Amino acid sequence: MSQKDITITVNGTERELSVEPRRLLVHAIREDLDLTGTHIGCDTGNCGACTVYKDGEAVKSCLMFAVQADESDVTTVEGMADLPEAGMGRSDDLHPIQEGFRHMHGLQCGYCTPGMIMAGKALLDKNSDPTEAEIRENISGNLCRCTGYQNIVKSIQYAADVYNDREPPESPVENPQEQEAAADGGFECGSGCGCDVDFGEEDR
Ligand code: FES
Ligand code: FES
Repeated sequence: MSQKDITITVNGTERELSVEPRRLLVHAIREDLDLTGTHIGCDTGNCGACTVYKDGEAVKSCLMFAVQADESDVTTVEGMADLPEAGMGRSDDLHPIQEGFRHMHGLQCGYCTPGMIMAGKALLDKNSDPTEAEIRENISGNLCRCTGYQNIVKSIQYAADVYNDREPPESPVENPQEQEAAADGGFECGSGCGCDVDFGEEDR
């Protein structure tokens, strides 16, 4: 099949590619550009694992041909720490959304996380102080099989706090009381999910 030459600015760098017209954007990103932080969960537009930020919108890169992204500007999760917002929070180098996921325990296996982060960025760029309902609506096209979504919402709220110069909450996973409990032989869930589970020695 004939190849088509395209140019995509990815994470601030212009990249030239020669692709078959049928090549999906997600495959071009992962295999031709070696940016494997963008995941493939379904290839059918259902899971959102492949979400990237293209020209100011969150798009599912399995639903686009690479040639449709010609001359566009794409940000993947690998580029988040290079954006101007990086370092606005408590960390020197992470983007506030990345920091939120880290501090609020917004991931478990992490498979959905890059897509969730890109969806969160698209939301906060348009609405820096969304309500919980708006966050939930925004990530409704992104599936997570692990977290129950509570901490994903809190992670994006954390970033919204940073964006709006509010003090974000302390990290529940770095709470000293929980560390003490673990040292005493008990172990609190620590995920910040509100479950109040305290695993004693016999349950571990
Ligand atoms: S891989 Fe694109 S939506 Fe699932
Ligand atoms: S953290 Fe495992 S799928 Fe979301």
